Amino acid sequence: MNPDNLGARLPALCEDGLVLRWLTTVDLPALMAIFADVRVVRYMATEPLDTEAAASQYLLSIHEGFLAGSLYQWGIELDGEIIGTCTLAAVDRHNRRADIGFALGRKYWGRGLILRALPAVIEFAFRRLRLHRIGADADPRNAASIRVLEKLGFRREGLLRECYFHLGEIQDALLFGLLERDWDASEYCHRG
Ligand SMILES: CC(C)(COP(=O)(O)OP(=O)(O)OC[C@H]1O[C@@H](n2cnc3c(N)ncnc32)[C@H](O)[C@@H]1OP(=O)(O)O)[C@@H](O)C(=O)NCCC(=O)NCCS
Repeated sequence: MNPDNLGARLPALCEDGLVLRWLTTVDLPALMAIFADVRVVRYMATEPLDTEAAASQYLLSIHEGFLAGSLYQWGIELDGEIIGTCTLAAVDRHNRRADIGFALGRKYWGRGLILRALPAVIEFAFRRLRLHRIGADADPRNAASIRVLEKLGFRREGLLRECYFHLGEIQDALLFGLLERDWDASEYCHRG
């Protein structure tokens, strides 16, 4: 039983021509197409999903995370196709915070699509889950991700030196935070 009373699955969110929706086994080929690409997972805490078994395990962890109320991950659908995902992870009801994550398949980069999807997730976090803070981290080299976070209103809060060992290299992480009042002041906020 999901602790946020969300029922059996994540509610679909519609945003600016995109549908954010629950992922099922039907979406395994799309998840592989997105996450088998090393360019996509280069700066993510995800290993490349380059086998069906890895993709199935990934989907299972999404469903288990939903049931535990610790991870909410939506597929981003454009014209009937799953093109990426966005995530609230490490959902912490006591401290009213979570971390946000996002990724698009390589061929969908550079079209402003993630900035169309993420406001719905942030609204869900603050209004539906009643969170107070959303955190994020990004490799300092991940310019697109940093730009997306700052455009949404996230503030830089620090740098964790050499905190990930991923795909054969040590990576730094810039830390970001978005408080509900930051979001209310963001031009992307639905109330804005
Ligand atoms: C991060 C990601 C979702 C960005 O989504 P996107 O919709 O392709 O973003 P866009 O290319 O439209 O760019 C967003 C902004 O970043 C800017 N940007 C993109 N690449 C850039 C670069 N190399 N240097 C500087 N700015 C850049 C764009 O100009 C745009 O800013 P603008 O709206 O002011 O012009 C996508 O690159 C991705 O899936 N990356 C792999 C997964 C990942 O790293 N996720 C984040 C983990 S923290």
